[in-house]
Formats: sequence, C-alpha cells, structure tokens
Amino acid sequence: MTDPIKEPLLPQDFIASGASAELFDLGGGQVIKLFRDSVSEEMIAREAEASAHAAASGVLTAAAIGRRTWDGRRGIVYPRLEGRTLMDWIRRNPMRAGWVLGQMGAIHGAMHQAGGGNLRSLKQVLTTDIAYGPAPIMVQRAVIAYLDTLPEGDMLTHGDFHLGNVMLTPQGMMVIDWSKAAAGHPAADAVRSEMLMRFGIGPTDWMTNLWRDWAAGRLRRSYTVSSTVTARDLDQWRPVVALAWLRARDAGRTPAFMHYLDRALQRVGLPTLR
Ligand SMILES: Nc1ncnc2c1ncn2[C@@H]1O[C@H](COP(=O)(O)OP(=O)(O)OP(=O)(O)O)[C@@H](O)[C@H]1O
Ligand SMILES: [Mg+2]
Repeated sequence: MTDPIKEPLLPQDFIASGASAELFDLGGGQVIKLFRDSVSEEMIAREAEASAHAAASGVLTAAAIGRRTWDGRRGIVYPRLEGRTLMDWIRRNPMRAGWVLGQMGAIHGAMHQAGGGNLRSLKQVLTTDIAYGPAPIMVQRAVIAYLDTLPEGDMLTHGDFHLGNVMLTPQGMMVIDWSKAAAGHPAADAVRSEMLMRFGIGPTDWMTNLWRDWAAGRLRRSYTVSSTVTARDLDQWRPVVALAWLRARDAGRTPAFMHYLDRALQRVGLPTLR
C-alpha cells in the first residue's frame, strides 16, 4: 500500500515517539508508525511481516494492516491499542511492578510456543553481529565456534522484548515493535530481555540500577516457570547474545555490562575480554 494519506497529520494526532519512529492517530481505530530515515527498508518490512506472523500464531499483538508512505516518510498502519506501555504503567503503579513483571515473563514464555515461520535465522544474526562487532578476533572465533554447537531453534523470537514494547490493554498484554524478530532458540530471546532490563537504554542512577537488577530476576523467574527453557539454557546463550549486543549497544552501565559479559563467557569456558 503506497497511496498517500489524504488528511494531513496534525500535532494533536501525535501519540508517541520511540527510537526508530513516531506514532500518529489516523482515526477510525488506526495508527500510523512513521519511521525515521535511518531505519532500513529491511527492518520495516520485517516488522510488518513479523507482526502479522505473530498475530496469526496466536500472540496478542497489533498486526500490521499495511505499509503506507506519508509526506515521503515510510510507515506501517496498525490497529490502535488502548492502554499504555508497561514502562509507563509501572511508573504510575510502582508497587505493582512485581505483578506486571510476572505477567510479562508469562507472555514471553507463551510467545515462545509459536514457530518462527519464514523469519531470518537468529543464529545467523548473532554470528554476523559478533563477526562485525568490536571484540578481539580470538574471542570472536571462539564464541562463533561455540555458537555453532548450540541448537538452531525455530521458535518465534522478538529480539527487543522490554518494558517499552509491551502494552497493557483491556484485552491483556500486547507485544509491539517486531523489527528485530527472528526464528531461533527461546533462551536467546529471554537472555536478551534480561540484558535490556539490566543494561538497556534508560536511567542508570544507583536506585534505578538496583530496581533493574531486581526486575530482571523477577522476569527471569516468571519466564522459566512459563517455558521449557531452563536456567542452564540461559547460561549457555548468555555469552553469545551479550557479545553480539556489543556491536550495536547504545546504553549506559558499560562497566557493569562488561563484567556481566565476562562472567557469562567464563561460566561456559570461553575466553574473556579482560
Ligand atoms: N498499535 C499501537 N497503538 C497505540 N500506541 C502504540 C501502538 N504501537 C506503538 N504505540 C506507542 O508508540 C510507542 C513507540 O512504538 P514502537 O515501540 O513500535 O516504536 P519504536 O520507535 O520502534 O520504539 P523503540 O524506542 O523501542 O525503538 C510505544 O511505546 C507505544 O507507546
Ligand atoms: Mg519500541
């Protein structure tokens, strides 16, 4: 769908802004997500495809209605979801964070029962990110050889499952923002969420960091109860996913993250960075 939208988008139609896009209300229960110019065509196509695949697989989400361009900007039209992101919800209801994190882990586990369909291979993505990342070549080689020994996995993985990408709606928790989706092992997706919670974008003052570490533990516990993934699976995938993240990581707590990465490498007998 490339037909231009007839009505101009007005400031009062603005809903939210994320790292990669801005959301506007189109009326009639629809929103348009307009991507920033820096976002690749491939990512936009993947997001539209993966959201539709997830919805068809029974995951609670807003499935893309179609692609649209508006005023030269590339966009995807989605059904409008009511409610707010878990991040906003927790800020307003901090005492109920434990409950929300429990539900969030449970829907992540449920999501991992869906197959990955035609999505790209997560193992391939991790291999590329490690190879093009900043780690010394010796470490890259050892970790890629180790990754080769891990199971392929063919389940639906989100790749960016954090508090800003789940909305609490009257219909339940809905997962949004599928641009990093892939077919792979669920444990890789779960450790990615652990990293985003602890070391992802957002405030990094000491109080928030304590909260982040607690929240990651709470999320992990509810996730492992709701999935077939074990603590050992998470230990196996953690070093790979953490090293791959170095390529594009754009967040604070770097010393703590490097310590976490080294411990994860050490635990499975891989060479460390320091
Ligand atoms: N279908 C929807 N209905 C209503 N609001 C939505 C919908 N999809 C997204 N939003 C709102 O827009 C915000 C940004 O959406 P989204 O996470 O898809 O964009 P992004 O720019 O890719 O985010 P990120 O910062 O994670 O890269 C969300 O946090 C949410 O508040
Ligand atoms: Mg988002």
